[in-house]
Amino acid sequence: MSSLGKSKKINKLNNEYKRMSEMSGWSLSSNFVKGDGPVDADIMIVGQAPGKNEDISGKPFIGMSGKMLNELLSLSGIDRNNVYITSTVQFFPPKNRMPTKKEIELCAPMLKKQIEIVNPKIVITLGSLAANTTVGVDNIMHNHGLLTHDGDRYYFSTLHPAAAVRLKKNVPIIKDDFKRLGTIVKKLEVMKNKQSR
Ligand code: URA
Repeated sequence: MSSLGKSKKINKLNNEYKRMSEMSGWSLSSNFVKGDGPVDADIMIVGQAPGKNEDISGKPFIGMSGKMLNELLSLSGIDRNNVYITSTVQFFPPKNRMPTKKEIELCAPMLKKQIEIVNPKIVITLGSLAANTTVGVDNIMHNHGLLTHDGDRYYFSTLHPAAAVRLKKNVPIIKDDFKRLGTIVKKLEVMKNKQSR
């Protein structure tokens, strides 16, 4: 699918998503934080749910977790500008609570559609909710750094950057994962310059 075709599909999906009345008017905040980055990215990042700063700005990962994510991405040699970044639930859960089972169930098909449209070579899941919803991986503290694949698409699961912001002991764990991710990404040749294709 062309980049224009993907943009049109993502825009249509975003319009459907933000109109989900159960989400926007019911228990989560009213702002929809759409995915950010090139729609034809080879790398996609899936977080948990936007925080307060993201809710205000409408952009994912721009608060404390976003700063940590930027640091981790530079450690792995991945340029954030080449990554499509989204979240499992794209509304800010009031008081930063965990999204409910029902909310996750409503948003999961939207995430699945985004992955299908963007069609990345690798999806990086951040935290237990993203790992569980996207790849069915449980117990992220045990399974972090796990690389799986489904057909041609790879999935790499690691901790959420917020876990490293909150607890210093998680910093070396997540840093090691991102260093390994950098090696994996280079091996998969997903970093190659789009123009040289
Ligand atoms: N955490 C997430 O999972 N997503 C964001 O956009 C911000 C913080």
